[in-house]
Amino acid sequence: MIRLTTNFLAAALMAAGMTVAFAQDDAEQPKPERQSWSFSGLFGVYDQAQLQRGFQVYKEVCSNCHKLSIPFRALEDPNGPGYSVDQVKALAASYQVTNDEPNDKGEIFKRPGTPADDFPPPESFPNDQAAAAALGKAPPDMAELAEARKYERGFPWFIFDALPFDQYQEMGADYIYAILNGYTKSGDPQWNLYYPGHRIAMPQPIVDGAVNYSDGTPPKLDNYARDVAAFLTWASEPTLAERKKIGLRVMIFLIVLATLLYFTKKRVWSGLH
Ligand code: HEC
Repeated sequence: MIRLTTNFLAAALMAAGMTVAFAQDDAEQPKPERQSWSFSGLFGVYDQAQLQRGFQVYKEVCSNCHKLSIPFRALEDPNGPGYSVDQVKALAASYQVTNDEPNDKGEIFKRPGTPADDFPPPESFPNDQAAAAALGKAPPDMAELAEARKYERGFPWFIFDALPFDQYQEMGADYIYAILNGYTKSGDPQWNLYYPGHRIAMPQPIVDGAVNYSDGTPPKLDNYARDVAAFLTWASEPTLAERKKIGLRVMIFLIVLATLLYFTKKRVWSGLH
């Protein structure tokens, strides 16, 4: 018993030590702060108006460098941006995409997009090599950005994050928001507080007033950052909300099962005293 207690104490001390170590790391490389998102929590859903604003930010600013490899018609998702079929058709047609097959003369040709096509890569950077040559590093594809940049929140948070009652999965959105707000060293447009190592190949991409919203949302960096982070989270995880609901159902099922097993066990063993 005493042995067990000492073991437990040792483990607790180690855990406390780890927490302190993480806290020290934070001073040099702070972790993005947790923001509040309409889609976080168990009953979270995407906010359609916010996703549409975020798409506008992507289209007017980020798409100059970053590709977004999703089909146009994904934007019709009723749990996502919810654009109408006609809006998506018109949007797709406003892009020139490269046809999969060459024409009869064997020539590669471009044609207006259809809803089934993916967004084409940025006009100035037809491929990653061209982008890397011009920018120093190729901008990541935004179709997976939010998913790929889920940072580890460290002990003890990762334990809580995994619990079905919280299921915190919005680190990608927090990270994108933090990066856009992380250009805090004046005079150095490629220093970012939240980018690992601070030196980022992306010069500050967006500032107050860069995009005009039509729904009255103030044209502020803070709103652009939130909206585009929400949009990019949807783009890489369109089924986030459904997944959480399944998690909750599994949890309820397990609780019911455990309760039934408990009473069955009591009954089976009750005759044996
Ligand atoms: C001028 C071109 C350019 C524009 C415009 C641009 N980016 Fe970038 N972005 C880059 C490059 C290049 C990188 C790679 C930076 C690196 O890893 O050093 C990058 C990286 C990023 C990263 C960090 C990814 C990582 O690896 O951790 C985020 C987040 C990001 N961009 C978001 C955005 C958003 C949101 C917009 C629109 C508001 C945007 N970018 C507009 C060029 C651009």
